[in-house]
Amino acid sequence: MELEKSSCANSSKVSYDSSKVEIENKDLSAHWNNAYHKEITTLGWYEAHPKPSLELIKKCNLEKSAAILNVGVGATTLVDLLVTQGFSNLIVNDLSSVALDKLKNRLGNDGHNITWVVDDLTNPTQLNQLEKIDLWHDRAVLHFFNEEKDQTTYFNLIKQLIKRNGFVIIATFNLNGATKCSGLPVFRYNEQMIQDRLGAAFKLIEAFDYTYTMPSGNTRAYVYTLFQRN
Ligand SMILES: C[S@@+](CC[C@H](N)C(=O)[O-])C[C@H]1O[C@@H](n2cnc3c(N)ncnc32)[C@H](O)[C@@H]1O
Repeated sequence: MELEKSSCANSSKVSYDSSKVEIENKDLSAHWNNAYHKEITTLGWYEAHPKPSLELIKKCNLEKSAAILNVGVGATTLVDLLVTQGFSNLIVNDLSSVALDKLKNRLGNDGHNITWVVDDLTNPTQLNQLEKIDLWHDRAVLHFFNEEKDQTTYFNLIKQLIKRNGFVIIATFNLNGATKCSGLPVFRYNEQMIQDRLGAAFKLIEAFDYTYTMPSGNTRAYVYTLFQRN
């Protein structure tokens, strides 16, 4: 396995030249890389203080050495805050190497313990080689997967990676939410739909609707969910 510690440039193993699906993924990579060339505080999903995620993570009562995988992490301030709280085994993933470079540069030496994984959640070649994890955290990523096969790949990866008694936090646009984000169509959820995809081995601990206010002042309707594996 070639996961990169403290570096994210050029670590993706996704190849772009052999099928239509891969070409589409290349376009999405370019889309997200382009988005992260902007100042992150102006992004439509920027949170100065990701309070709902922090509250749900606190409820998991994890050891500081717990393996926490943040998928589609972008350049979120959540990572800085988890480092400050003393979590020492953070794994961060994104399709966009530009996003991870931004995060890495911002964290500087504070990011030295972080494992950086540029990989595609809908076609994982590195994420599926990780050791088992204690917590999966996703905010605003799952809803971009509109095709059944991509959703299945995403949920299969969770089932592969989560330890027994491990946790899953998924925050996604709810059924009243917007139909697009970052110019892309989205697939919206309620907690039962996520439960159905995870299956009976995962127990819903908590779910709540949450209205996020964008830097523009517009709002977006999310559902936050916390599950624990039996
Ligand atoms: C709306 S942003 C949310 C970023 C971050 N979770 C946050 O809350 O600030 C969606 C993120 O998902 C990433 N993403 C989109 N498709 C992905 C994929 N197939 N695999 C991994 N990451 C992906 C994007 O690059 C982007 O960083």
